[in-house]
Amino acid sequence: MIYLDNSSTTHKKPKSVISTATLGMKKYSINPSRVGYKRGIEVQEEVFKCREKLSEYIGTTADKIIFTSGCTSAINMGLRGTAKRNGHIITTIFEHNSVLRTLEDLKQTHNISYTTLTPNKEGQIPTSEIAKAIKSNTYMIIINHTSNVTGATQNIEKIGKIAKKHNLIFFVDGAQSVGHEKINMQEMNINLLSIAGHKGLYAPQGIGVLAINDCIVTPTKTGGTGTYSEKLKQPTNYPEGLESGTQNIVGILGLYAGLEFVIKHQEKINTKIHTLTQYLVDKLNKIKNIEIFAHNISSGVISISIKNKDSVFVSQILDEAYNICTRSGLHCAGLVHKYYKTLKTGLVRISLSYFNNKNELNKIISALEKIALS
Ligand SMILES: Cc1ncc(COP(=O)(O)O)c(C=O)c1O
Repeated sequence: MIYLDNSSTTHKKPKSVISTATLGMKKYSINPSRVGYKRGIEVQEEVFKCREKLSEYIGTTADKIIFTSGCTSAINMGLRGTAKRNGHIITTIFEHNSVLRTLEDLKQTHNISYTTLTPNKEGQIPTSEIAKAIKSNTYMIIINHTSNVTGATQNIEKIGKIAKKHNLIFFVDGAQSVGHEKINMQEMNINLLSIAGHKGLYAPQGIGVLAINDCIVTPTKTGGTGTYSEKLKQPTNYPEGLESGTQNIVGILGLYAGLEFVIKHQEKINTKIHTLTQYLVDKLNKIKNIEIFAHNISSGVISISIKNKDSVFVSQILDEAYNICTRSGLHCAGLVHKYYKTLKTGLVRISLSYFNNKNELNKIISALEKIALS
């Protein structure tokens, strides 16, 4: 099987992730929540090591790393936990439904309103438009760092400056960027960063993070924290106030190993993904009837359409006849497709990881050529 759906979740994991996650099952199937026995304390230490390493990687502090079940739950936690009744939010057409549907829900529950900004030809949301969209009740900018459809990557450093100047919460959806792009929350004035551990950090599925910097997030999930158990009111201190319930130790240990892998090989990973994606785009550009939607070669995310062919049909042939996995349809990002007028047929997304190679790309290029010319 040739796997080219790494924007959904990276399929091949580093050996160290597999062995560490397995250790999590074998040795650490223990609830670390304030247990007094030795093995439990060991697990707590392992969990803390992961918080510490990730906080150093993205520029916040260990207590502000909140483990979640994925990026969707991190986005929900961040948006709902900061929601301001009657407030206004600035966002973009690039957002994933985990953002857009939550905003739609907050419209009902909190009477919030939101503005969705559109990009220029290069896929950039102009900062001048962001500044213009600020209203007296605006309290947040939430922006997709790297698009899961076109790979468009926004200049979050510049946007962070606007957010800071206007005292707005700056929320970055890093689902597709963490592991690829350099991010420092403190230096870039990012208050909330949502992370999908199972994508660019090569962790197992079921682990994500909401990283916080200088921002109050009210718990929207209540339950046991292992602390202040005599009190019925949910504690609000980080991280445990936001982490009620038994933790995903396999995921957290896997995330630690994935992060170590990414940090150690960061340059190699980025160079390889860039080179392979550039190769793919150059070859596909030469094939008649193929249109490419790609804004940032370094992201490893590109989408294509084939003239007069539905994306579901194309992905199905790739799978059935060539054993190649790609993602068709709308990629849970309907507004992007509406903007680029691809709602009807969808797009075929090809997304790469460090574990892909040129040989695999040659196979999809040749398969797509046959489909496009048939
Ligand atoms: C940009 C973006 N945001 C959020 C998500 C949701 O991530 P998860 O699958 O970890 O919930 C995705 C998943 O593909 C994504 O691409």
